[in-house]
Order: sequence, then structure tokens, then C-alpha cells
Amino acid sequence: MKDKIGFIGAGNMGEALIKGILKAKLLSSQKVCASDIRETKLKQFQKTYGIKTFKDNKELVSQVNIILLAVKPQNMEEVLSEIAPVIEKKHLVISIAAGITTSYISKRLNDKISVVRIMPNTPALIQEGASALAMGKHATQSDLKSVQKLFESVGKTVVVDESLMDAVTGLSGSGPAYVFLFIEALADAGVKMGLSRSVALLLSAQTCLGAARMVSETGEHPAKLKDMVTSPGGTTICGLHALEAGGLRTTIMDAVEAATRRSKELGQVKK
Ligand SMILES: NC(=O)c1ccc[n+]([C@@H]2O[C@H](COP(=O)([O-])OP(=O)(O)OC[C@H]3O[C@@H](n4cnc5c(N)ncnc54)[C@H](OP(=O)(O)O)[C@@H]3O)[C@@H](O)[C@H]2O)c1
Repeated sequence: MKDKIGFIGAGNMGEALIKGILKAKLLSSQKVCASDIRETKLKQFQKTYGIKTFKDNKELVSQVNIILLAVKPQNMEEVLSEIAPVIEKKHLVISIAAGITTSYISKRLNDKISVVRIMPNTPALIQEGASALAMGKHATQSDLKSVQKLFESVGKTVVVDESLMDAVTGLSGSGPAYVFLFIEALADAGVKMGLSRSVALLLSAQTCLGAARMVSETGEHPAKLKDMVTSPGGTTICGLHALEAGGLRTTIMDAVEAATRRSKELGQVKK
């Protein structure tokens, strides 16, 4: 890639992405830089990743053609008003801030600027993220391709209409927490049945990892994979019966619906 990318906000997500981009050799460390209000973070990024860092967000913007906004949603207003005077038509702006729309960003920068919004999730920290991308009004297909390439260095990507970003937040944004809860519950159940905590946790996490990989690598419908391990009158059908009696499917749907609703509510103040 011939691009030069600058991260505003050197926090958890910023670090995950920088790590992924450098590890995938998508860009060299000379083509990546970061700015943050915390000097300790900048020193750490220089040392660990060999990238150039800036205390001043405007200086960073003047050095790059792609700007990745990785500050918390509550800091967006101040960051956008700070960089607005130095934004040019050549810039592509990417935002990962939850609930901040592309129109919110372009209104504060320049109405003609290309903006792409992303909702990544925390497994991006280990290059297993799931990111949904939505194009702003002036983003082009070529902008989308560049952004997709960047985020594929930390996992898988899908493109959605921006109106579906709250649903994405409710599913994959909040999803790792649901899965952590499931893994913990499965391990607790193993402990109840007499397994040691460490054995139960290893079996539980590896079972979820293996099942998830089977779904994504075979491309088979999960119901078909479930049927393949469910023999007549066997153990698995007894377990499945108990899960259905407990309303697992409905509970999961309720969880995603509740999180989507909350994401919408939080986004209302950031129009
Ligand atoms: N973590 C996730 O699971 C996740 C998932 C999807 C999307 N996101 C989005 O990713 C964004 C970053 O999240 P994060 O977890 O990486 O946050 P984070 O760890 O708090 O990182 C943000 C960094 O930006 C710094 N900062 C604050 N104001 C700034 C300013 N004016 N100029 C430059 N830097 C500034 C912060 O410093 P201080 O700490 O001193 O404020 C912090 O070092 C958020 O908008 C979030 O919605 C996160």
C-alpha cells in the first residue's frame, strides 16, 4: 500500500490495529504514526512498534493521507474541531468510535471528505476481530477497499449499510462478552460434574474455538453441524433438550436486541 496512516488515540484498539497492520506487513513502520495526549503511550508505541508519534494531532494530520480516529466517543467533538482546519480533500477519515455517525464527522470536518465508519471488536487484539464497515456519503469503492485491507489484517470484515451499525454493535461489538459468559458457564458446569477448574476451562474454551472454526471453515449451516453430532437417543440430544427448555435461543435474541436498542439510545446524543 502506498498510503500513510495516522492514528489519533493510541489506546487499546489503536494498538491492536497498529500491531495487526505491521504484523501483516501491510505497511512498514515508516508509514504508520500515532498521536495521543498521553506521552507515556507515545513513548511506548515508539519503542515497541518503531513508529513516529506526535503530541499534536494537527501535526499528525499534515503528515498522512489516512486518518484513523481511535479516541473514545466522548473525545470526538474536541478532536474533530481541533483537526478540522488542517483537513484536506486528499484525506480519508476512518472512525472506529461507537455510535458516531459518518455525517457527524463530515459535518464537523468538511462536508466533501471521505469517511468510513467501522465497528471492530476486541478479538482484533489477537488478529481474530470481526469488523463491520459502512461508507459515508463521499467515500468511494476504492476507499472502501483500502479500509477493508487494513482491517483484514486484524480479522474478518463485512460491509453493511450504516443504518445497521447498531445491530452490528449488539451482535459482534458486544458479542465477545456473551461468548465469555457462555465459556464460563460451560466451565462451571464441568466443575459441577467433577472436573477441575483448569481442565473444565480448557475444554470449554477449546470447544467454542473448534466449533466456531468448523462453522467458518466448512461454510456449513450450524444446524447441519449440530445434527451431525446428535445421535438418536444419545447424550447430545439430552443436553440440547435442556438448553431449549431453558430458552437459550430466545435469551440470546433478547440480548442482541437489548444491546442494539442501547446502542441506538447512546447514538441519539451524537447526531
Ligand atoms: N475496545 C473495544 O472493544 C472497542 C470496540 C469497538 C470500537 N471501539 C472504539 O474504539 C475507540 C477507542 O477505544 P479504546 O478502547 O481503544 O479507548 P482507549 O484505550 O481509551 O484509547 C483512546 C486513547 O485516546 C486518548 N485521547 C483522549 N483524548 C484525546 C485527544 N484529544 N487527542 C488524542 N488522544 C486522545 C486517550 O487518552 P486518555 O486515556 O487520557 O483519555 C487514550 O489513550 C472508541 O471510540 C471505542 O468506541 C472500541
